[in-house]
Amino acid sequence: MRSKSAENWQNYWRGAYAAGNKVANGTDLSAVSQFWHNFFVLAGKKLVDPASPLRVLDVASGGGAILKYAVDGLTPEYVSPFCMDISASAVKGVCERAIGTQGIVADAATWPLIPECMDVIVSQFGVEYAGLAAVSDMGLSVRPGGHLAMLLHYHDGAIHRECTANLQGIVGLERCRFIELSLAMFRDAFEVLRGGPREPYEASSKALIPAFRKLEDLMANLGMSVANGLLLQVYKDVDHIHTNLPKFDRDEVLAWLQSLHRELAEFAGRMGSMCDAAADRGAFEQLLKQIRENGFEILEAGALVSDQHDWPLAWKLVAGR
Ligand SMILES: C[S@@+](CC[C@H](N)C(=O)[O-])C[C@H]1O[C@@H](n2cnc3c(N)ncnc32)[C@H](O)[C@@H]1O
Repeated sequence: MRSKSAENWQNYWRGAYAAGNKVANGTDLSAVSQFWHNFFVLAGKKLVDPASPLRVLDVASGGGAILKYAVDGLTPEYVSPFCMDISASAVKGVCERAIGTQGIVADAATWPLIPECMDVIVSQFGVEYAGLAAVSDMGLSVRPGGHLAMLLHYHDGAIHRECTANLQGIVGLERCRFIELSLAMFRDAFEVLRGGPREPYEASSKALIPAFRKLEDLMANLGMSVANGLLLQVYKDVDHIHTNLPKFDRDEVLAWLQSLHRELAEFAGRMGSMCDAAADRGAFEQLLKQIRENGFEILEAGALVSDQHDWPLAWKLVAGR
């Protein structure tokens, strides 16, 4: 049976491709780009063998951002790219855009590949969703002489803090029942437009006021852009529709709010799984120990920092077998 989290990611990637979003970029941070550039251009080049393409697997590949670094950084004909993700839509999207990529739809928690079948295995904010044991398992599929490189979520780091704030924002929105109360108010308001009674509308619009105030507090405390600006957007949209009601179609408004409700629940699920996946120092050090025991030499390990953030962005890890 698929987990709620797997379903959540599948809905996310299906929706992202359906909306035609730009999904290949991964995390748009210069320290992150620099890490992958250094790995593929500086370290990876040494591994390239013109006689047989380098098998590079991106685990929990999402939009395939890291494979793009591999293909751009190394000569494309020397790379044989593979992507793996729990979401079939994510894998399909990468294989359709990056011709020649071989896709694997799998849960990294039950590691699906045989030992020593890849030259390079990479992951960015991905494999740890399957638990840190999966990081150690995936290392076993690197051939002797090959490399493992990854960026992992950092507990209490910049991304973790942002995800925590996003989650608080969505949970706060859920708790004050802003969407349910807006739905009730709009149902009653459209009835008034059709000549129905005013009293239910007066009661439901009054009941919505504290939820508006709660949203204002949440944005004041967590920042206006919290949850990718979703709180601010829903606040403004409900207000705008309410003020201009005759211009809107009742069924479209109600359907929009209902789908927003689902979207927010899924967003909160992704934020929660990101927070749960973040490793603290103790867990990271335990992972390094396990990777050494699997026959790797640790080439680079520690916090990935950026001068644009007060807290580390990720744990970085490069190991050679
Ligand atoms: C935050 S996204 C990162 C995607 C990509 N690596 C990047 O940096 O842009 C996390 C990815 O992990 C995938 N994922 C989550 N749990 C997984 C699991 N148990 N096994 C494999 N993939 C998983 C999700 O579908 C999603 O594509």
